[in-house]
Amino acid sequence: TIDQKIDALLKQMTLEEKIGQLNQYSGDNAATGPITIHLNKINEIKNGQLGSMLNILGAKYTRQYQELAMQSRLKIPLLFGQDVIHGYKTTFPIPLAEAASWDLPEIEQSCRIAAIEASASGIHWTFAPMVDIVRDPRWGRVMEGAGEDTYLGSKIAYARVKGFQGKKLGDLNSVMACAKHFAGYGAAVGGRDYNSVDMSERMLWETYLPPFKAAIDAGAATLMNSFNDLNGIPASGNNYLIRDILKGKWNFKGFVVSDWGSIGEMINHGYVKDSKEAAIAAIIAGTDMDMESNSYRNNLAQLVKEKKINVSLIDEAVKRILRKKFELGLFDDPFRYCNSEREKDALNNPEHAKIARKIASKSIVLLKNEQHILPLSKNIKTIAFIGPMVKLKRANHGFWAIDLKDVDSTYIVSQWEGLEKKVGKNTQLLYAKGCGIEDESKADFQEAIDVANQADVVILSIGERWNMSGEAKSKSNIHLSEVQENLIKELQKTGKPIVILINAGRPLIFNWTADTMPTIVYTWWLGSEAGNAIADVLFGDYNPSGKLPMSFPREEGQIPIYYNHFNTGRPAQNETNTNYVSAYIDLPNSPKFPFGFGLSYTTFQYADLKLSKQKMKNDESIEVSLTIKNTGKFAGEEVVQLYLRDKVGSVVRPILELKDFKKINLEVGETKTIKFTIDNQKLSFYNSKLEFNSEPGDFDLMIGSSSTDIRLRDNFELIN
Ligand code: IFM
Repeated sequence: TIDQKIDALLKQMTLEEKIGQLNQYSGDNAATGPITIHLNKINEIKNGQLGSMLNILGAKYTRQYQELAMQSRLKIPLLFGQDVIHGYKTTFPIPLAEAASWDLPEIEQSCRIAAIEASASGIHWTFAPMVDIVRDPRWGRVMEGAGEDTYLGSKIAYARVKGFQGKKLGDLNSVMACAKHFAGYGAAVGGRDYNSVDMSERMLWETYLPPFKAAIDAGAATLMNSFNDLNGIPASGNNYLIRDILKGKWNFKGFVVSDWGSIGEMINHGYVKDSKEAAIAAIIAGTDMDMESNSYRNNLAQLVKEKKINVSLIDEAVKRILRKKFELGLFDDPFRYCNSEREKDALNNPEHAKIARKIASKSIVLLKNEQHILPLSKNIKTIAFIGPMVKLKRANHGFWAIDLKDVDSTYIVSQWEGLEKKVGKNTQLLYAKGCGIEDESKADFQEAIDVANQADVVILSIGERWNMSGEAKSKSNIHLSEVQENLIKELQKTGKPIVILINAGRPLIFNWTADTMPTIVYTWWLGSEAGNAIADVLFGDYNPSGKLPMSFPREEGQIPIYYNHFNTGRPAQNETNTNYVSAYIDLPNSPKFPFGFGLSYTTFQYADLKLSKQKMKNDESIEVSLTIKNTGKFAGEEVVQLYLRDKVGSVVRPILELKDFKKINLEVGETKTIKFTIDNQKLSFYNSKLEFNSEPGDFDLMIGSSSTDIRLRDNFELIN
């Protein structure tokens, strides 16, 4: 058995070899050339003193490093990890955009393709999914998550892990998933990256931990620490998080990797005085692998000799890591993922592009279509495609896209190319850049105005550059840049119909545009197939179905903003009377665009809500049914959302909470019956003693097309 193999191997290992397994180094992206790490590190690999590497890309280069490991005494293979966050060669929409699809099978498939490509390129392990709940769009890493909601976030976490890991670890096209960042990272104070997190136990359990549990239930092989301190204890040295919850209560059998340097950063936190103490804190807390801080490498042997830590702590961590190496089949064949032929095929599979195009179109959110300009006719004579994002390829890729350099050329369909392919020969396409993304120079406006004046329709593509959201990309001002809003204002004066495309890695604020311009499409950063997907939506070959996974604020001053808040003792009854109620005197409480919102080219009628009973005991369930009819002129998909409100609780409950959803497809005129089941799990919450239970009483049930567009209501009672 694997256990016997691990024990036998462990017995042969010296202390230095054991500690080596707990160490991870970065290569300098080996796709740029062969061995690009320091000679000392190469010797450590040959001496069997390194467990894992990141940032080595490609079958050819991973093989070269693995060959070094095979020169070591015990020939323990290296693990190659990589941030495969939204695709490998084929880039998919950024995770926040994919979350807007609410399409779990598609999300799982995008991760599946990412795994197929990455594993063929020598990668064993992706540092994804990021399952941090985020209620603060200032935080740059919001682009990597599934948004603000715990229920949706948990479902997506599950789907992503399944996608990456496939049927089972060890299948050649699977990579290990890594649910990150454990825990609380999304709640960094002020949305500032790496900042502290201070939250109640109940909020931790209720809002931030469930997506991790879902990832583990899906079989996630690994977890990553977060950079932040949680209530004063840095996550990398946090006993409560790792020993008590993860490895204790949840019985997690995989291993925990630190974030880059995060063990050593406990010195900066002021939690330990030096790297020796950092190593003690992290190994005791249960962090198994040290990414790039060298705290384990430099101190653990000495600490064992000084009897400051017991070698059993090291053994436990080594065993967890070796287990994954066995499960991946690396001891049978350390080179099984380094096959250049397979890599070539996997990285040039046209099917992957088709799938990326589909999920990209499903991720697009139609925010406004007041004059029904969309979908556009394919017979328009002249279209002016204007804006700084139109021809920028990298922009659509987004942060964390992998630059494959010489392994294989990356590909991206620009928005211009997508449109060019879509329109017929009779349509003339005109282009003007209009302005830069941030620069204030008005120099180009005139060209854009001239081009717009010649067109029947203007499409204006604006937003954020690829590196304006992502790690270490927090912003205090998340407004669309002034120069871009000015461009819209100038073009509006032409009187031409204008379709606005907003490309971004986070919810942006664009109040003037939202209030004034009738046609707005939120296109996020959609990946390799962005151009084709956008063209599909603009011309009605795909009817948009995306729904926002985050509330879009009116101003930064509303942040954190989220739909499932408490009522307070003085709830504002409306947006105008702010007198001694919980409100701002200068701003409505509501977001500009709410959670769950997104339009379609068609309309859906919700009707016939039926509950199988009006009272239920906690060992029973209620069957909910309703009908949805496509009452418009286009076939389309709708995300039917079920929300509950627990009217009275021993701790106060949110005004509504997403508890289920279904994404359905309806032909024109078609009606479908939708069914949901309400069981005790859906009614339970963490009470003040942190017990997860339901409490008898009244519940409101709401079925809607968004968190504010509730179409059907009923209520029921939970009885003893
Ligand atoms: O995986 C990432 C992590 O999310 C942030 N810091 C760097 C790691 C490795 O690149």
